[in-house]
Amino acid sequence: MKRDSFGSRFGALVAMAGSAVGLGNLWRFPYLVGENGGAAFIIIYVILCFFICLPIFMSEFIVGRRSQKNAYSAFRDLSGGSAWRWVGLFTIIVPLIVLSYYSVIGGWSIDYLLKSLTFSFTGGESQSAINTMFTDFVTSTGGPLLAHTAFLLVTTLIVIIGIKDGIEKFSKVMMPLLFFIVIGIAIYSMTLPGAKAGLDYLFNPDFSKINGKTIAAALGQAFFSLSLGFGTIMTYASYVDKKENTLFQSVATASSDLVFALVAGTAIMPAVFAFGISPQSGPGLVFETLPYVFGQMPAGGFIAILFFVALLVAAITSSISMLEVAVAYLVEEKKFSRIGAGALLFAICWVVGAVCTLSFGPLSHIKIDGGNIFDFFDNLSSNVLMTLGSLLTVLFVGWRLKKTDVYDEFTNGGTLSTNAKIFGVLWFLIRYICPLAILIIFISGLF
Ligand code: PFF
Repeated sequence: MKRDSFGSRFGALVAMAGSAVGLGNLWRFPYLVGENGGAAFIIIYVILCFFICLPIFMSEFIVGRRSQKNAYSAFRDLSGGSAWRWVGLFTIIVPLIVLSYYSVIGGWSIDYLLKSLTFSFTGGESQSAINTMFTDFVTSTGGPLLAHTAFLLVTTLIVIIGIKDGIEKFSKVMMPLLFFIVIGIAIYSMTLPGAKAGLDYLFNPDFSKINGKTIAAALGQAFFSLSLGFGTIMTYASYVDKKENTLFQSVATASSDLVFALVAGTAIMPAVFAFGISPQSGPGLVFETLPYVFGQMPAGGFIAILFFVALLVAAITSSISMLEVAVAYLVEEKKFSRIGAGALLFAICWVVGAVCTLSFGPLSHIKIDGGNIFDFFDNLSSNVLMTLGSLLTVLFVGWRLKKTDVYDEFTNGGTLSTNAKIFGVLWFLIRYICPLAILIIFISGLF
């Protein structure tokens, strides 16, 4: 049977951008920027994105498209059947862990979209009422479990439909909508009186805040935001046509992710500051601070609906990319049907996700390393597993693959002249700079 693939350049691009643009852009980036030196942090972030993350992104792209296989088979076949295949398996398991807890938040987004559709954030509710609403919800059992189930079900259904008809079609409609909504909110947010303080918070450079820890935070955010080290880019790239340009696809994805993160910051922070609140990160920002802000602002009920649609869409276009990694493996290696693979993975992620969901309520007494089970999975995958996955992938491309093969894949058989010109720089970055930088930054972030 012919392997499914993306039907167009635009389709491949929006699917990859969909994987990259997600909760990470909406709830972590704006806060990290504000807390860690504003424009100074952005400069560091952009440098890391383009000199460290982009070569890793291209490495994943090259492995995926060269092999046109799932991550496990890609590592196995390109290394001539060696133990590198276990790295492939690792990059298949990690996104499943991320999906399990990502689905918890995806579920919360569904619940908050329903709340905003029933105009829960229009009456100028007090901050403490909003906080109580959030705490009551996440610590309960039935609601969050149902929401997690719904989110995972939608994710699974889209993936089961396939690459061209499921993932690509969904992303083609939803990604432009997502950009449109967030740009609209940003414009509105900047017109609010007092919005300037939010822009200052985001963009005033403060280089005194830059140290080993901030650089490590910037790199971690860039990895997470570009979905690196998870096998997702590799798997998506395996569905990209051989005629497409790796350099173009990678730069376009990284740039849209960066632009989206900046626009998201400009949508959120001016509104938060306009109402004199100090921002939080993560769930607190999205489910406590913002609903309060919506309740205060003119037309806030409508903005709340738009915002939670955007949050949900951003989460789904990322979650489908996580699930596809393992579906591709089960279908190609273990001869599952897409439906069978989807059903099995749904069951596994549902159980792990349910434990994460309940770790805010009935299971909140279980602490690992000071946090709940959800925090443990989040920290483990975004601080350790992802870094390891990226490091191993870049070592694989730089030290295990043949230079001529990497060149051939990157330049489409020598036909792309710009790619051929910059290949020397890329090769140097992949072989030496990326592995060293990952190690140094990872270690310095520990202290
Ligand atoms: N890049 C996504 C975000 O910024 O929210 C998260 C993500 C997607 C992580 C896909 C891992 C992944 F495989």
